[in-house]
Amino acid sequence: MAKKQIRIGLIGYGFMGRAHSNAFAKVGHFFDSEHEIVLQAICARDAAKAQAFADRWGYRSVETDWKKLIARDDIDLIDIAVPNNLHAEIAMAAAKAGKMILCEKPLAMNPKEAEKMVAAVKKAGVPNMVWYNYRRCPAVVLAKQLIDEGRLGRIFHYRANFLQDWTISPELPQGGTALWRLDAKAAGSGVTGDLLAHCIDTALWLNGGIADVNAMTETFIKERKHTLTGKVEKVSIDDACAFLCHFNNGSLGLFESTRYARGHKALYTLEINGEHASIKWDLHDLHRLQWFDHKDQSNLRAWRSIHVSDGDHPYLKNWWVPGLQIGYEHSFVHQVADFLHGLDTGKPARPDFADGLATDYVVDAVLSSAKAHKWTKVKQVKAAK
Ligand SMILES: NC(=O)c1ccc[n+]([C@@H]2O[C@H](COP(=O)([O-])OP(=O)(O)OC[C@H]3O[C@@H](n4cnc5c(N)ncnc54)[C@H](O)[C@@H]3O)[C@@H](O)[C@H]2O)c1
Repeated sequence: MAKKQIRIGLIGYGFMGRAHSNAFAKVGHFFDSEHEIVLQAICARDAAKAQAFADRWGYRSVETDWKKLIARDDIDLIDIAVPNNLHAEIAMAAAKAGKMILCEKPLAMNPKEAEKMVAAVKKAGVPNMVWYNYRRCPAVVLAKQLIDEGRLGRIFHYRANFLQDWTISPELPQGGTALWRLDAKAAGSGVTGDLLAHCIDTALWLNGGIADVNAMTETFIKERKHTLTGKVEKVSIDDACAFLCHFNNGSLGLFESTRYARGHKALYTLEINGEHASIKWDLHDLHRLQWFDHKDQSNLRAWRSIHVSDGDHPYLKNWWVPGLQIGYEHSFVHQVADFLHGLDTGKPARPDFADGLATDYVVDAVLSSAKAHKWTKVKQVKAAK
């Protein structure tokens, strides 16, 4: 039987444009689906660079204006891989045009925008998903399975860090194509929306909703030259953020993120301590899950390092043979595979836009709490599914 084609229109060819394109190219080779990805068009403002990207990755055509891409009737799905300030406008237009949407994280600049995006996809009835790819690392999925099986028992603590060190130099400018993350007008916030958003999404998935937060943020370098204006301007993003929280299940959360932790490049770690067992995971060693089970025989009890590479581990039967590990890029392949599986079965894959909104509510509460120096309640997404 001929497969149903999903003709992709990708917007943005940077870091995530490449990660998504790689996933689109690989998914059909490793995962079965009634649907088939077609790399129909790449959209970016520079026509020559867009054409070079199309040639390298196999896109059939090029657009330089995302509005024209959305207007095309040979595009089924719009993939948003551009800076955060463009997500809402593009997603709303894509929903109105009846396109499926994959959107990068954080879903929006703020909850107000994100609420409108959720309403737009709901009204249009279009499949939608947010690229919180760490949910698709096999070791993290194994953690989810162990939690859902009740093996940890009551959860007491959830701890997560996301540490980097690339903005320590005061000479680093802000803004423009390469450094939009340092410009609040393009990014919305600093490490909170960029890095902690990942930690928050994983936490909401593994440990449920967050009730309230108490946060602090810091901007260590107060002024930087702006790439676009050439002038020294105030830095409005948060360089570092730490927060405490209460989860709805009664457990306590502790989160920290910074771009000033010398020696750390992308150290996303999480740890969960339950009544019977504990779990640890580290992005730098992403194919391993650390597991401590108090039910083990007492004289043999210890932390185990599970090499998540066997055929009965999540996603692994679709890859190589037991013992051979996979990496970062595979989390994106898995996300596309799950999205297609959702289309096949009619059971949509998550995180969808409503889940993206839930994370944006936490990000917003964290930023508000830091500003007000007080505990702040987190708005909950109403539509329970
Ligand atoms: N899921 C993840 O792990 C992850 C990792 C990195 C970035 N992100 C997110 O992905 C998004 C993009 O980040 P990135 O690291 O790929 O950024 P990037 O700077 O590498 O790429 C951004 C791309 O957007 C293009 N662009 C900007 N304005 C445009 C416009 N008006 N029309 C068309 N193209 C335009 C740029 O030319 C560039 O190709 C952001 O929302 C970011 O938060 C997610």
